[in-house]
Amino acid sequence: MNPFEQLLKNNKVWAAEKVREDKDFFTRLQNQQAPKFLWIGCSDSRVPANEITKTDPGEIFVHRNVANMVVHTDLNLLTVLEYAVNILKVEHVLVVGHYGCGGVKAAITNTSYGIINPWLHHIKDVHRFHREEIDSLETEELRVDRLTELNVQEQVMNLAKSIIIQEAWHKEQRPHLHGWVYGLKDGLINPVFHMAPGTHIDPIYEFDIKP
Ligand code: CO
Repeated sequence: MNPFEQLLKNNKVWAAEKVREDKDFFTRLQNQQAPKFLWIGCSDSRVPANEITKTDPGEIFVHRNVANMVVHTDLNLLTVLEYAVNILKVEHVLVVGHYGCGGVKAAITNTSYGIINPWLHHIKDVHRFHREEIDSLETEELRVDRLTELNVQEQVMNLAKSIIIQEAWHKEQRPHLHGWVYGLKDGLINPVFHMAPGTHIDPIYEFDIKP
């Protein structure tokens, strides 16, 4: 059997199992989604949002890109964020990186990856902001791990800089922003950073919000 045919076969088995466990499962989800979480994760195939949090379809709204970045001009990310915050009214936004991230590993080297370079520049910027701390670490693995944690923190702060989050914090005291790092070694999530609604940010980035 062709590998893609296996996926279609698995899908039939999965759908039948879901109905066996809960006969209204699909009927319920067909009419609405009401996820409490937006997940901004890495595209890495080893970090599937639902599986590692034991959640079902309908529970997490998901956006993934290489190295879980929040880039201010990324219309794709901004569209997902706007929809999740203002239409779905999520309570929590999770930026989820992972140790051993290929994107972070690539960004810490001087190798050119062609068209991928501009994306990795955003991670290189994080390295520059925290140069002393990262470069003082003994091994490449420790440097990559710490840059991964700091990258997640910076991406959470990038969310807080957006007008979407600033307006939601002002009007509805929502959502919480979380920075998590998943361990490929042990399957465990390390919560490394949190910003509660209304957390003070650098005034340079604060917008005047009209009542
Ligand atoms: Co990754």
